[in-house]
Amino acid sequence: MKRLSTILMTLLLSSALLFSGCQSSTDDTDDSTATLQITVVTDATWAPFEYVNEQTHAIEGFDIDLMKAIAEKANLEVTFQNVAWDALLAGMATGQYKVAISSITILPDRLEKWLFSEPYFNAGQMVCVQKTNTTILSHDDLTGKRVAAQTGTTGFFEAQKIANATVKSYDEIGLAFQDLINGQIDAVICDNPVAIDYVNANPDKLKKVGTAFTDEYYGISVAKGQTEILSRINLGLAAVIADGTLDQLIAKWNLNP
Ligand code: ARG
Repeated sequence: MKRLSTILMTLLLSSALLFSGCQSSTDDTDDSTATLQITVVTDATWAPFEYVNEQTHAIEGFDIDLMKAIAEKANLEVTFQNVAWDALLAGMATGQYKVAISSITILPDRLEKWLFSEPYFNAGQMVCVQKTNTTILSHDDLTGKRVAAQTGTTGFFEAQKIANATVKSYDEIGLAFQDLINGQIDAVICDNPVAIDYVNANPDKLKKVGTAFTDEYYGISVAKGQTEILSRINLGLAAVIADGTLDQLIAKWNLNP
């Protein structure tokens, strides 16, 4: 995992540098010094990446910090808007939304519908069960079980691959964890850091089983045609990688395995 992320970051950096090198020669009309204002949508139900602070009602998380840091480097002024996951996916595909940061895994069929920044984080899928469960020891034991995930996420797609499983889908992952605690379902599948967050919040009720069983790279989503925004985001991302900000945010949000 560590080695993989080092390779990933090296790749990221070199491609972004390459990209920035090309930019001035191919896009002479662009006034890249002007501040661009953008609204960034996020489904803030996915701590520690994006969630609503119950006290302040502000949207917070690793993704939010990262987007702000990128914006600072790339002369973007960002405002965040909280939208439901299915609306976010649909709105990115139609161009209703221009930018989304929401732990969005870069997938081939999403790449057909909108653009992605370079990858910024690797999060695999994890299985969570009730603390007292003794039969599900890993992803391989989910055959025929009641398995839950957030609708339209990679966790949901993984659940659909399990033989004879009854797949229950939820608009919000928190509701799936509630049903898991209540015994309505046998397991939840979601991104590993999110699973860790729920287990840490309910250590006497929940546990993780096995290790992350997929490799997935998060990217910032940009609507088709918004190439100026995409190039600024990629430049900003390369800069926050180069100056260590990304690593600091990973440490701040406890995302190191
Ligand atoms: N990484 C997963 C995916 O892209 C789940 C992301 C869900 N994000 C959220 N904010 N609810 O499908």
